[in-house]
Amino acid sequence: MCGIVAAAARREVSEILLEGLRRLEYRGYDSAGLAVLDDDARLLVHKRLGKVAELEKAQHAQPYYGPTGIAHTRWATHGEPSAANAHPHTSGDRIALVHNGIIENHSVLRQQLEAEGYVFTSATDTEVIVHLLHRAMNGCDDILKAMATVVDQLEGAYALAAIDRENPGQIVGARQGSPLVIGVGIGENFMASDQMALRQVTDRFIYLEEGDMVRITPASIAVFDAQGDAVERETTRIAEAEETVELGDYDHYMLKEIYEQPRALAATFSAAGGHEVADSAFGECAAEIFDRVKAVQIVACGTSFHAGMVARYWLEELAGIPCEVEVASEFRYRKRVQIPGTLLLTISQSGETADTLAALRDAGTDDFVGSLVIANVDNSSLVRESDLVFLTRAGAEIGVASTKAFTTQLVGLLMLTIALGRRNGLPQGREQELVNALHALPDYVQQTLALDTAIKALSEAFIPKHHALFLGRGIHYPVAMEGSLKLKEISYIHAEAYPAGELKHGPLALVDDDMPVVAVAPGDELLEKLKSNLEEVRSRGGELFVFADRQAGFTSEPRVRVLAMPHCPEVAKPIIYTVALQLLSYHVAVQKGTDVDKPRNLAKSVTVE
Ligand code: G6P
Repeated sequence: MCGIVAAAARREVSEILLEGLRRLEYRGYDSAGLAVLDDDARLLVHKRLGKVAELEKAQHAQPYYGPTGIAHTRWATHGEPSAANAHPHTSGDRIALVHNGIIENHSVLRQQLEAEGYVFTSATDTEVIVHLLHRAMNGCDDILKAMATVVDQLEGAYALAAIDRENPGQIVGARQGSPLVIGVGIGENFMASDQMALRQVTDRFIYLEEGDMVRITPASIAVFDAQGDAVERETTRIAEAEETVELGDYDHYMLKEIYEQPRALAATFSAAGGHEVADSAFGECAAEIFDRVKAVQIVACGTSFHAGMVARYWLEELAGIPCEVEVASEFRYRKRVQIPGTLLLTISQSGETADTLAALRDAGTDDFVGSLVIANVDNSSLVRESDLVFLTRAGAEIGVASTKAFTTQLVGLLMLTIALGRRNGLPQGREQELVNALHALPDYVQQTLALDTAIKALSEAFIPKHHALFLGRGIHYPVAMEGSLKLKEISYIHAEAYPAGELKHGPLALVDDDMPVVAVAPGDELLEKLKSNLEEVRSRGGELFVFADRQAGFTSEPRVRVLAMPHCPEVAKPIIYTVALQLLSYHVAVQKGTDVDKPRNLAKSVTVE
């Protein structure tokens, strides 16, 4: 999704801006641009459709150098991907602006501005902001004051950064609903939508709050709250070791991240206690909130939603706690009946997903005993706005298709199940078994990764296919959903997941030789039931791919290919079967030649509704 980088320095900044954009590439985008104010306060703009590499080529062909600049990667919402629609947008040849988010009242504003003679050169919602800023500068010589009058007119979500030829050496920013962080340098300062963009220039960050506005110069940072009062926001230092984003020997980030899972799972468990499940792993006042929890409402999107679906089985079966799970975009707009004593649990790798964040905000605190987020990014909006926090230690996840974030979320969710279950009659012995399983998890995942070659061999059958069906039962139904999501995200094969018992209620009609059927069947009753479906699948030319426990006694036969999975405790199964399905999708996508880490049309962090 869109990314912002901005720099106010005493040196040339275009290379800092380009490096920042490269570091944001993983989030997904379709075009890129930069604007600098050079030493003579000329406003110079490059915009290109496609990759940051295209923008670099433009910059090499015609270098634009200057000490102040803003840059952007765009993920189209209003207006097709094109150079004209790429940011920065300009007005009157003096102001340039970049924007993340969506301006909902842009049509009305556009009509007003056009009536006043402003000429629009793009189809974006963003262009209204830059013209409003230009208009506000009439009779006003302070761009920050002008920006304050502009944001008052905007409805929707925005993170903004703007420069003005008449105010050289400074950048103004504002945030509402989309993240914006200040990078604190020595004799230079920066802004970005994600601190990852600035790690090459600083390790000190100021996270802006909702409604904040900011002015940065090389020597100063001035932050103002929604009321316009000057405020001090805390500066956070991020340790170097917390993030490594090098690809190393791997061909793709997705594969690297799949292989990092044993380490990420162990790090997540050990950072949260390691030998036991302490309430404090969820925050200082966790014990007091957990004592009052009677039910859990999980809200999330995408892969994180599937983690929530898995957790529902654990919370109900192991902790005896009623649990509802809903995608955030639905939860937000539904009239709900809340069970008293419900904990609102959001799950999000990025901690910035717009719908999940809005669900937390819309829910308020009145109906809930408190809010807990399971997130992978410290200081993200969900982390800062939730009562309780469980941080996964997956490390930076670059591949758009989420892998290690999902499995580490499951560690947090199992620990939550234990913490709540203990208050609800979970026997001590059972708790110890679960803790032992958490300890052993990295090893089971390692054993699963050792099946990589066998999984790659299975994957070849999927390359010419256009459809695939994933089946699972019980807790393995959401695992099948996650497997099908991975396949469609990165290989563009249409994939659907069904509870296995539903096969005969519709999807069986689709089975033919173009429809491989993947069964997540660790060795439960599903196997027996599946066996009875085999003939129907086979007689329609279908082929079955069964991921089954190696002790389940299931063997390959014509049109049934079995992958023998490690034997492990029940609670480890959703994790290791997901890892196997991640590898399956990865190999299909690589052989199909798709852009595995940056699949078309998708974004890593969806910061608009
Ligand atoms: C996007 C990503 C998915 C991710 C989802 C939720 O769609 O492409 O991989 O699962 O957002 O993101 P979150 O950061 O909230 O987990």
